[in-house]
Amino acid sequence: MDFSIKAYDTKNTIASAKTGCVAVAVFENKQLSQAAQALDASGEITAALKSGDLTGKPGSTLLLRGVTGVAAARVLLVGLGGQDAIGEKNFASAVTATLKVFASLGATDAIIALPLADVKERDSNWGVRCIVGTAHESVFRTDAQKSKKDPAPNGVRKLTIAAPAGAQLKTALAQAIAIANGMDLTKELGNLSANVCTPTYLANVARKLAADYRFEIEVLERKQLQALRMGSFLSVTNGSEEPPKFIVLKHMGGKPKDAPVVLVGKGITFDSGGISIKPGAAMDEMKYDMCGAASVLGTFRALGEMGLKINVIGIVAACENMPSGRATKPGDIVTSMNGLTIEVLNTDAEGRLVLCDALTYAERFNPAAVIDIATLTGACIVALGHHNSGLFTRADAAHEKLAAELLAAGKQAGDTAWRLPVEEAYNEQLKSNFADLANIGSPGGASVTAACFLENFTRKYTWAHLDIAGTAWKSGGAKGATGRPVPLLSTFLINRS
Ligand code: BES
Ligand code: MN
Ligand code: ZN
Repeated sequence: MDFSIKAYDTKNTIASAKTGCVAVAVFENKQLSQAAQALDASGEITAALKSGDLTGKPGSTLLLRGVTGVAAARVLLVGLGGQDAIGEKNFASAVTATLKVFASLGATDAIIALPLADVKERDSNWGVRCIVGTAHESVFRTDAQKSKKDPAPNGVRKLTIAAPAGAQLKTALAQAIAIANGMDLTKELGNLSANVCTPTYLANVARKLAADYRFEIEVLERKQLQALRMGSFLSVTNGSEEPPKFIVLKHMGGKPKDAPVVLVGKGITFDSGGISIKPGAAMDEMKYDMCGAASVLGTFRALGEMGLKINVIGIVAACENMPSGRATKPGDIVTSMNGLTIEVLNTDAEGRLVLCDALTYAERFNPAAVIDIATLTGACIVALGHHNSGLFTRADAAHEKLAAELLAAGKQAGDTAWRLPVEEAYNEQLKSNFADLANIGSPGGASVTAACFLENFTRKYTWAHLDIAGTAWKSGGAKGATGRPVPLLSTFLINRS
């Protein structure tokens, strides 16, 4: 999909725009939006509404051809619901309905002229992102591993967004496209099978990104990880034939001395559970256990495209979690990079074992903030379902501020998170008889004890943890990666730049 944005005015009217289709909004009370009025010199739109052919309900549509006085071949009337205070849900369903019709047209180019500036509690930037995000999603295909590719989408390929007069939306459009492209990468990686999307594959994707966008990159191999004493991370790789990769990407868009934001992604390219093996049902879905890593790579793609003036470091800790004669066993005690010993009571609680060493590694960057992103616990799906990512931070002033920033970015991007606690009291549950820490807690609050485990390794900087187990993909018939939380992370970085 090719996007552009254009302001129409009295000289350069929307009625005189030559295009395959113009989509304009109408309301439930049969009133016309401004753009619809501008196309109704002949009264044909009013007449169509009077006929009762269109309810104006959100997402209802009516296609007219050859409207007198309109240069476009077609006019698409789209219902937006109630006229005052347009709700964002109504706007989003109008956009979805518009794109669905556009995909079925003989035309290849179109204008979408919806009232971007009139959505309740949202600005035009949001409207632009809504349109671009929905359009991207509508043409996204997961056929990389199919011998017969899905048919190319039909219909409109060139979409012009009509901007409200005087609005400066060029940057918003560029950002919306960058975020959508970043999400595409995250989805592609999440959907690839684990025999293809290995740690080595992720490292190669990162190298390609570095080449495309001039990021600095370093890929640490097993020997280097041993020298760094990442005993916890390495214990997870013991059962696997695939070599681990520890990927460090640097986007130094800010001043050289500005403290960077560090993003740390869990990159378990397959989580069998290890010796504490998972049940067979839906085990295929554990190829998605690298979605934290994929969201770091996707966010870097967006960052590179936007060229944000901010320093960001991405860390991807990638390996497989497999059973074998060499695999870590329940009860094994390992020493993490920061010296804490960990009793591995359950080899399926591997994400925290990988992340703790990556979080210790992050100290060397004197970060402004560190955010880890992980499909960490099934319990997070129990707690929050698939709507919100779990957000965990400590509760002092600096962390309250970081949490507020992340929650706000999520709201702004339509990629929301919900806060859950990190408190000393939960550390009780992680006591081990034989080591400094156990890798699982006593029953109850498994997402919280997982976050509290990580907290032990983050005391030298401001830190937030996003548990994306429920938001990174959808199960069921349309199963696949969602690209979340790339919008949240990208928006957070935009706001900070
Ligand atoms: N990758 C899983 C978490 C997960 C489960 C993500 C389901 C998405 C869907 C993680 O490594 C894991 O296995 N966690 C265990 C922790 C438990 C052993 C304390 C879990 O959630 O069951
Ligand atoms: Mn696991
Ligand atoms: Zn896992």
